[in-house]
Amino acid sequence: MYGGHVIVRAFNGEEKSIQKFVKMNDELYKSEWKSQFLSSMMMPVMNFVGNLGYVIVAVMGGWFVVKGIIKIGDIQAFIQYMRSFTQPIAQIANISNIFQQTAAAAERVFEFLDNEEEIEEKETRIDINKIKGKVEFRNVKFGYNPEKIVIKNFSEIIQPGQTVAIVGPTGAGKTTLVKLLMRFYDVNDGAILIDDTDIREYSRKDLRSLFGMVLQDTWLFNGTIMEILDMDDWMQQMKRL
Ligand SMILES: Nc1ncnc2c1ncn2[C@@H]1O[C@H](COP(=O)(O)OP(=O)(O)OP(=O)(O)O)[C@@H](O)[C@H]1O
Ligand SMILES: [Mg+2]
Repeated sequence: MYGGHVIVRAFNGEEKSIQKFVKMNDELYKSEWKSQFLSSMMMPVMNFVGNLGYVIVAVMGGWFVVKGIIKIGDIQAFIQYMRSFTQPIAQIANISNIFQQTAAAAERVFEFLDNEEEIEEKETRIDINKIKGKVEFRNVKFGYNPEKIVIKNFSEIIQPGQTVAIVGPTGAGKTTLVKLLMRFYDVNDGAILIDDTDIREYSRKDLRSLFGMVLQDTWLFNGTIMEILDMDDWMQQMKRL
């Protein structure tokens, strides 16, 4: 919502956004409250249990001494045993909330690490300086997720030097075609060929150096225009975003 603020305003979505935010904020408030309450309870509860032990040792010990079963020194010894015993338990209890936080953070890290790797690229010997610029889409099938196919069996040959405009309603898949051409995504089926060679045969760097692309949403990054125009650098910036 923060990133899409302009769009939210443009479509009068403030009310809806606020409602959604209030709901999420409320949920966060409740769980944060619970977590803070429980983790701050840990210390006093452990202290209380520890002190209870002292009381029991003192009372029972006193009684045993009066009865003559043990000597006063035994009580002293017992109190020391008890302290050695309860201290590590209290320490574990104190870091239990840190364990929980670590588990939650690790989940996020592993989610990132579990992401699918980009398909390994091939070493190519294709000389990109000799490329003429014939582009062919051959039975291309693609969807951002396999259940929702955006491009179904698209074929077209564009000759070198030919100018082509792709026209269609919003969501038709125009930008998707360009993203496929530059291998931001790979086709699910079929192939895209440049000068009769599958684009998967080129290295990504070589392939992208063949294109100039102007996005419909303008992005300006920190840096010089020259850096922004360098595609590879641009991709790194995109990844960072
Ligand atoms: N990153 C993405 N993840 C999932 N679906 C996407 C993604 N990008 C686009 N889509 C979907 O793919 C379809 C085609 O989108 P695309 O951006 O190619 O349309 P477009 O023809 O460029 O539209 P526009 O004229 O608005 O630019 C749409 O249904 C869109 O919702
Ligand atoms: Mg588009």
